[in-house]
Amino acid sequence: MVENPFIVKGYESADFFCDRDAETAEIIANIQNGRDTTLISPRKYGKTGLILHVFEMAKKKRLKIDTLYVDIYATLSLDDLTKTLAESMLRAFPERTSVGKMFLSVLKGLRPTLTYDSISGAPQLQFNYGSVAEKEYTLKSLFEFLNSRDKGVVLAFDEFQQISEYPEKNVEALLRTYTQSMRNIRFIFCGSKKRLMAEMFTSAGRPFFSSTSLLTLGKIDGEKYAEFIKQHFSNVGRSIDDESVAWILHWTRRHTFYTQSLCNEVFAQGVNVTLPIVKAAAQDILSRESSYFLQYRELLTRQQWLTLIAIAKEGKVSKITSAAFLQKYGIGSITNVRRAVESLQEKELLLASDTKEKKEYRVYDVFLSHWLEQEF
Ligand SMILES: Nc1ncnc2c1ncn2[C@@H]1O[C@H](COP(=O)(O)OP(=O)(O)O)[C@@H](O)[C@H]1O
Ligand SMILES: [Mg+2]
Repeated sequence: MVENPFIVKGYESADFFCDRDAETAEIIANIQNGRDTTLISPRKYGKTGLILHVFEMAKKKRLKIDTLYVDIYATLSLDDLTKTLAESMLRAFPERTSVGKMFLSVLKGLRPTLTYDSISGAPQLQFNYGSVAEKEYTLKSLFEFLNSRDKGVVLAFDEFQQISEYPEKNVEALLRTYTQSMRNIRFIFCGSKKRLMAEMFTSAGRPFFSSTSLLTLGKIDGEKYAEFIKQHFSNVGRSIDDESVAWILHWTRRHTFYTQSLCNEVFAQGVNVTLPIVKAAAQDILSRESSYFLQYRELLTRQQWLTLIAIAKEGKVSKITSAAFLQKYGIGSITNVRRAVESLQEKELLLASDTKEKKEYRVYDVFLSHWLEQEF
């Protein structure tokens, strides 16, 4: 039950999901034509939402597939991945169903310890491996179970770049071997660390090279987003003027999460919306987040902090080492600024967008960007 149509968490239904029609069609076509998909975009553009939307649409179209979503963001090793995959399968195939019973018997053969989380009641597994071979056998058995279903299975791994942090050797090669041989599973590999993901899937010599269809998710079209926003106000008999909608889309840079958040805040005011209301709502968001933003100052070096403020004040910077930029903000030498930019990018505080012509830097978090611009 959603009372505010501008959701800021997860996926609700197609009614609350703006556009992405072309991307949805593309992924569904991939699924239907036996192709795996790699989905890349900056954080909070809407990758997870899109996967869940694709699953929903596949269900509506009555495609004969099971869908499985596995978020591996929190996994630190191949063991964790195996465990997370098995837990997702337990949730997707409940014990009362026939497939659930089959899965449980396969699982029991792998001799895990099964417990239930005391708060959420979610199943939790622990595998006890005697050897590396046993470990790999367990993961392979999970894939093989999915592969053996007469229905096809779409398996989405979210935050897939995480596998590059695993301590085990040859994780990529191992996964590639498994995924390649599973004819009944269509994979979606999703990730926000562009460099890591792009290297994994587009560098010759890497196991996953050229094995999937690449989809880079951009921003939602401005006109479609404007239409979506106005529609949801008029659905409940309220209005928002064009000027307000344009300001929202501009100020949030159409970065989906931030646009949704501001719309949510504005909608919560419960009135017909004009520009002063939007601006006040934006200000409310910034003041609410300010104590959280202030902590960055403690976590960053002085050089990094000053560089971040300078980029926030510019909005976007393409010539990060130009004399004009360095002098305007008095932020030190080319070498120091370059190093600061690199580590800010590493920490995902800066977002580099490379268009064909130039590389542009912005503060990743749109609200932080406006707050820095205002406060310093
Ligand atoms: N097409 C969309 N229409 C409306 N809201 C969306 C859309 N895509 C994503 N969102 C919302 O934006 C936020 C960020 O999306 P998410 O899918 O989590 O991004 P990502 O996985 O790329 O980090 C979420 O709150 C989600 O509900
Ligand atoms: Mg996500």
